[in-house]
Amino acid sequence: METILTEHMPSSELVTDNPAGIAAEDAEWSNPALSEWWQREFTDGVDPEYTEQILPLIVSEVGGSDRVLDVGTGEGQVARALTEVGCRVIGLDPFDAQVHEARRRGGGVSYALAEAAHLPVADGSMDAVVACLVFEHIDDVDGAIAEVARVLRPGGRFLFLLNHPLLQTPGSGWIDDQLLDPPEQYWRIGPYLIEQATVEQVQRDIFVRFIHRPLSRYLNALADHGLVLQHMHEPAPPSGFMADAPEFVEAHTVPRLLALRLERVSRP
Ligand SMILES: C[S@@+](CC[C@H](N)C(=O)[O-])C[C@H]1O[C@@H](n2cnc3c(N)ncnc32)[C@H](O)[C@@H]1O
Repeated sequence: METILTEHMPSSELVTDNPAGIAAEDAEWSNPALSEWWQREFTDGVDPEYTEQILPLIVSEVGGSDRVLDVGTGEGQVARALTEVGCRVIGLDPFDAQVHEARRRGGGVSYALAEAAHLPVADGSMDAVVACLVFEHIDDVDGAIAEVARVLRPGGRFLFLLNHPLLQTPGSGWIDDQLLDPPEQYWRIGPYLIEQATVEQVQRDIFVRFIHRPLSRYLNALADHGLVLQHMHEPAPPSGFMADAPEFVEAHTVPRLLALRLERVSRP
């Protein structure tokens, strides 16, 4: 497998680590099986990380905004939570299997088919934008960040949630090394500086393509577009998650989630 060390690599040069040789289209969100897996396993209250941590965090950070855009809305759980607290929310996703289900679940949100790098929204028209666990799936990261900056009014908020790009790099995990004397337990971090797509098996017959990028790649692109960091959350995994995943109990000091609140300043 070839790897490329880079700080700023065009997406066309991304190297994909795909040891199982899964057909690319099977691991993309255009495959309706991925939307069905996501809806079944992570929405409608079945996932404690969403119910105990992600949705409350989003509501506390963005719930006071009026016009909110939810980029990569999926089946709409983030958009619905914000609508419930009085926001006027537009949810966008490029894939019909998600938008169709989002409309079916209702909740007073306006939905449309659109991808992050081409937002069908007027300049400066949004008080807040949310992207929850979406940018790991976007090739054109610079185009998507430029679009977020374009649609936000000056002073507007961008709430940006990612699988923690430093601590959850592909290949990271809890190691219990019994061969050492004394045995050692530690959190291993996979290759960090490599901007790389990885096809991961998330369930039997379900594969998802993730793109890992170093944190500096994101923060510098955000700053270049006038999106400046105001607050950073690195919460410990919530108790309901660890009850289902006891292997994470010893690793409870290692966050799985990173949430950044950025403010749109005038043109940099
Ligand atoms: C892990 S799901 C998260 C869904 C939702 N944000 C949530 O938190 O429940 C990732 C979502 O990103 C969407 N997605 C994939 N590529 C995208 C792109 N280029 N632009 C916008 N959304 C995209 C997928 O269709 C999917 O709904």
